[in-house]
Amino acid sequence: MGRKVFLVGDGAVGSTFANDLLQNVQVDELVICDVAKDRAFGDTLDIEDITPFTGNTKVRTGEYSEAGDADVCVITAGVPRKPGETRLDLIAKNVKILQSIVKPVVDSGFKGVFVVSANPVDILTTLTQKLSGFPKSRVIGTGTSLDSMRLRVEISKRLNVPVTDVYAMVLGEHGDTSFENFQEAMIGDKPLRSFEELTDEVLEEIETEIRKKGGKIIANKGATYYGVAMMLTQIVKSILENKAICLPVSAPIDGEYGIKHNLYLGTPAVIDGRGIVEVIQTPLTDQEQAKMQFSADKMAEALASIEL
Ligand code: LAC
Repeated sequence: MGRKVFLVGDGAVGSTFANDLLQNVQVDELVICDVAKDRAFGDTLDIEDITPFTGNTKVRTGEYSEAGDADVCVITAGVPRKPGETRLDLIAKNVKILQSIVKPVVDSGFKGVFVVSANPVDILTTLTQKLSGFPKSRVIGTGTSLDSMRLRVEISKRLNVPVTDVYAMVLGEHGDTSFENFQEAMIGDKPLRSFEELTDEVLEEIETEIRKKGGKIIANKGATYYGVAMMLTQIVKSILENKAICLPVSAPIDGEYGIKHNLYLGTPAVIDGRGIVEVIQTPLTDQEQAKMQFSADKMAEALASIEL
């Protein structure tokens, strides 16, 4: 049996992910499922045309009943943010959509790993685990992986260093309460905190800018998709290639950081073929710890308001 990915949601993110996936990972079968059937069908025809260069992937549309033997089910389906909206504004609509997806996928006999990017991603990842009844390790959200890439880009621009030399993470909610783990960030082999030009004031400015970057992209071009699609690709690659890669993602919190809530939140975690095999509790300053708790409290509050 080969590697099979079942993709639910063929909007801008899903479609870009399908393209990225084939270019970065050897997949035997990619099945795309979307309520907009004509668009999804057109997309499979368009994407299959790259396979003479990327490899032998069968790309086709399919129903939920065909998810049973997939290794990964990627959920991008949901209403996207409009300019000015927060990710939490999407809860009501996207929880309904999620409910219509998870049950039929589970009913198909799916035994792989769910990877969620639809927003608000920490909430929807938590609910995917609840609705599926899957072990927590087999549900992952893109979380703050994208914010972390944005942080690396921003620091590389400000310090004029290669982006590939910047190691830095954003943690907490993928949303308005996210925060930077500057304490552990490194530029090459030097701690970020040793760069004098990065004063507390500058770091605060960077944190605010990163929080707003998604909104800025939406205000200018209507949607964000290249960044998040690449993060989905990296997560799916770690699963399919069983590579034990550590990424900041939306992962199940089980007492880490002293958090008592039962939810998914942005933290580094190790991902391999089994899903999340380890949640890494990264060292935080007191201030960062307070921000993590604040983020967790906000997510718990939002979760409490949802009736399934
Ligand atoms: C963003 C979306 C994926 O931040 O939430 O670009």
